[in-house]
Amino acid sequence: MATQSGLMASTVEKETTPARYAVMGNPVAHSKSPHIHRHFAHQFGHNIEYTALWVDVDGFREAVEQFRDEGGKGLNITVPFKLEAFQLADNLSDRAKLAGAVNTIRFEPDGKIFGDNTDGTGLVHDLAKNLGVQLRNKKILLLGAGGAARGVVGPLLRQNPAVLVIVNRTVSKARELAKLFAPIGKAEACGYEELVGKRFDVVINGTSASLKGEMPPLPVNLFANNAVAYDMMYGDKPTPFLEWAMLHGATIAVDGLGMLVEQAAESYLLWRGVRPETKHIITALRKGG
Ligand code: ATR
Repeated sequence: MATQSGLMASTVEKETTPARYAVMGNPVAHSKSPHIHRHFAHQFGHNIEYTALWVDVDGFREAVEQFRDEGGKGLNITVPFKLEAFQLADNLSDRAKLAGAVNTIRFEPDGKIFGDNTDGTGLVHDLAKNLGVQLRNKKILLLGAGGAARGVVGPLLRQNPAVLVIVNRTVSKARELAKLFAPIGKAEACGYEELVGKRFDVVINGTSASLKGEMPPLPVNLFANNAVAYDMMYGDKPTPFLEWAMLHGATIAVDGLGMLVEQAAESYLLWRGVRPETKHIITALRKGG
């Protein structure tokens, strides 16, 4: 009995002190992550505090160390700090090593920084689980060869597609990416003009074009029957790529909101050992709440 009440006392004590998490970025004010993670915590009755922290571009390391020293348990990292987080980590997951970037930090009990990257897994989860799109034996086209694209190549290749083509304006960057991932699987690299006459089942926009309201220079007749167009960006209205895709034969055109929620769920799993249910929060966010 004594042991039981002792246990209860320590549990109560633990639960009254919230475990601290945050997203660090610049800008970060409009981040949906605090809302998403509070929703996750609610599912399990976890007592967490999750905030959005604006960090000066020159102050990332100090901000991370301060957060850790004040007892923080974990962080999400967003633009423009994912590369710096990669460099700062003491240990890295395999997927973070492949992505060359860190979007999730877990502080270990000894204070060491474990860096992970949940972006690519988030994309694959959104496609497979939420949209019912299996990637095995599919022809996939990935637009872009920057940091965002790199983060998803490994998880896409692991789904064993028939082919993964990486297309980029600067073709050399696409070639470098394909070479980097050769140990995982075969990716082909090309320029936009080489896409003429080719068709794909899944076209994923990993460029930053949508951020600027631009559209990658894609040829018409790009989509196979029942093709999916996926933009890793999201916003209040469809991106130019998604609008174009609907006009040019894609059956499904979807933005990256689901990916955002799924990468968050993977982060939550890394921190707390349980993977939250995601459907309800995705639906709520789509409705604007
Ligand atoms: P991020 O971290 O968002 O990936 P990045 O590393 O600067 O940002 O990479 C931006 C990617 O978007 C690049 O692949 C870039 O193509 P180039 O390497 O040829 O510049 C691509 N990109 C940006 N604007 C684009 C546009 N209007 N059309 C096609 N690709 C575009």
